[in-house]
Amino acid sequence: MELINTLLLQIFLFCLITLDSVSAQTCFNGYFKPNSTFDINRRLILSTLASKVTAHNGFYSTSISQNPNQLLIIGMCIPGTKPETCSDCIKGSTDGLLRSCPNQTVGYVWPDCCMVRYSNISFSGSLIMEPSQPVSDPAPIGVDLKLFDRIWEELMSRTITAASSTHKSSSFKHMYYAAEVASLTTFQTIYAMVQCTPDVSSGDCEFCLKKTVVDYKKCCRGNKGGAFVRPFCFIRWDLYPFAGAFENVTSPPPSSPSIKESISSYHL
Ligand SMILES: *[C@@H]1O[C@H](CO)[C@@H](O)[C@H](O)[C@H]1NC(C)=O
Ligand SMILES: *[C@@H]1O[C@H](CO)[C@@H](O)[C@H](O)[C@H]1NC(C)=O
Ligand SMILES: *[C@@H]1O[C@H](CO)[C@@H](O)[C@H](O)[C@H]1NC(C)=O
Ligand SMILES: *[C@@H]1O[C@H](CO)[C@@H](O)[C@H](O)[C@H]1NC(C)=O
Repeated sequence: MELINTLLLQIFLFCLITLDSVSAQTCFNGYFKPNSTFDINRRLILSTLASKVTAHNGFYSTSISQNPNQLLIIGMCIPGTKPETCSDCIKGSTDGLLRSCPNQTVGYVWPDCCMVRYSNISFSGSLIMEPSQPVSDPAPIGVDLKLFDRIWEELMSRTITAASSTHKSSSFKHMYYAAEVASLTTFQTIYAMVQCTPDVSSGDCEFCLKKTVVDYKKCCRGNKGGAFVRPFCFIRWDLYPFAGAFENVTSPPPSSPSIKESISSYHL
């Protein structure tokens, strides 16, 4: 697949406290003719997607077969999102896609609490990993990196395992999703969220998330919070709760003695 264009335009994110994060429409693959059947259907479905997603309990997908291109559209909100928040997030995303992707055959946007993607291709079984987009707060994390890596990697791995098994087992049947926390220091908690779109297998979801963690580390290790967005998977973490995702997540157990020791020796 040819990467034609990646547009990085900020849209207003309704479920974020800060606006400097995960906020870009990405369009790629190839071009369609404006006002073609593909375009007319795309605009029609995207413009009514917010109400469809909220009416369907946070997830809606549809596909249209047509010449020369099929059209597949997915809209979803993370579990527990209030209907207004979900609707606002989807609306902001579809407006952004229509504005920023005037003639590209695939477009996606993945703010924290919702996701919208339209495409003329199926993602099922295809491991389409690009175009991807890292987003990171370049401020240094300010703790011993060896210690941080150990806790962060354990947390990401635990969150990925939870997300790639939710598809089958939980009440959130429609998506791969997990939000988990870990104690970094006595006073700091790491909040992590990962997601995949529901049209891929559990194995592909896990593969994508694991690769994304590795790629995130390459670009952004040592930074204070960040995210990495791909066409069908997403990771995000920070030192504060975000997207209303951690309301019901149990607090982490107090740090183990070894962690406290290494933290205090680091601070000494
Ligand atoms: C999707 O669109 C691209 C660009 O126009 C085209 O090359 C490709 O064949 C299309 N794929 C499908 C499955 O329609
Ligand atoms: C598409 O259709 C709209 C409404 O009919 C028209 O205003 C616009 O000029 C058309 N654009 C192109 C590129 O044909
Ligand atoms: C937290 O739990 C309450 C009560 O079960 C529920 O209404 C709410 O949606 C949950 N929030 C999240 C973010 O899951
Ligand atoms: C796609 O749209 C852009 C912006 O309107 C335009 O500059 C470009 O020529 C178009 N490309 C094709 C292949 O239609």
